[in-house]
Amino acid sequence: MRRLVSETTLTPRQLILPLFVSEAAEAAGAPRPIASMPGVVQHTRDSLRKAAVEAVRAGVGGLMVFGVPSTRDAIGSGGTDERGVLNVALRDLRAELGDDTVLMADTCLDEFTDHGHCGVLDERGRVDNDATLERYARMALAQAEAGAHLLGPSGMMDGQVGVIRRALDDADYADVGILAYSAKYASAFYGPFREAVDSQLTGDRKTYQQDPANAREALREIELDVAEGADMVMVKPALAYLDVVRAAAEASPVPVAAYNISGEYAMVEAAAANGWVDRRGTVLEVLTSIRRAGADLILTYWAAEAATWL
Ligand code: PBG
Repeated sequence: MRRLVSETTLTPRQLILPLFVSEAAEAAGAPRPIASMPGVVQHTRDSLRKAAVEAVRAGVGGLMVFGVPSTRDAIGSGGTDERGVLNVALRDLRAELGDDTVLMADTCLDEFTDHGHCGVLDERGRVDNDATLERYARMALAQAEAGAHLLGPSGMMDGQVGVIRRALDDADYADVGILAYSAKYASAFYGPFREAVDSQLTGDRKTYQQDPANAREALREIELDVAEGADMVMVKPALAYLDVVRAAAEASPVPVAAYNISGEYAMVEAAAANGWVDRRGTVLEVLTSIRRAGADLILTYWAAEAATWL
């Protein structure tokens, strides 16, 4: 009877699996574990393909790929280079999976810059919004060329969705969509991700990511991104921001995704490893609560495993 009357559905196709592909892992010939994210690895090209196929077999709706280069520079050249780790991996995955799975790419420079910021810096060391937009446009084209179906600009630069949309349209990539990281907060929960991508960041992203104290500006960011051409919008992190997910779901004319991020993953895994919570029950409760808050889609490191449970 509980099943008969349950209000919220959780199905594999609503889950998106984030994956990391690393040049260092490729050079070493083996995936590299990420200590703060037990069970998640930096993949080689080959192990990435296998993990992707496995996730697709389990029924996940999409894959979000992040690249971890071995060399970095001030403008994040690796992100726009067709031989860059992420663009190579996107080509591999598109060849392997075709068009049946939505292949997504992180369209952001932070993994590729030697200062770790999501954009390029001006002479005074501040992130230069408009100079960064030019780099995003080039990165978007490289990712579309490599076979991504959906681009995920996660750098929180003003105007990023519009610039990417125009660049795609002008280059005959009208069919490549944009999943906008619209409401992305400057969160302490990103800690394990910074290990996952060998982040070079010192300091914080408070000049471009949102203040956890604010909800209203999340709605304004969503409105702007939709006006600029976003096909889907995202709230991130998820768990400490379920009120924002709910507000976004009510206000957004396009599908809303929520990112169940690295720190949320790490907390549950650590507690479960200590026997303090039941792992499977906690994971499914977390994912169900994000759906209940109104997210249409969930990016989660548990996507493949949860899909097999479901
Ligand atoms: C930036 C980016 C970040 C995450 C996804 N894209 C980190 C940041 O903004 O510092 C975090 C994802 C997670 O914590 O799981 N390219």
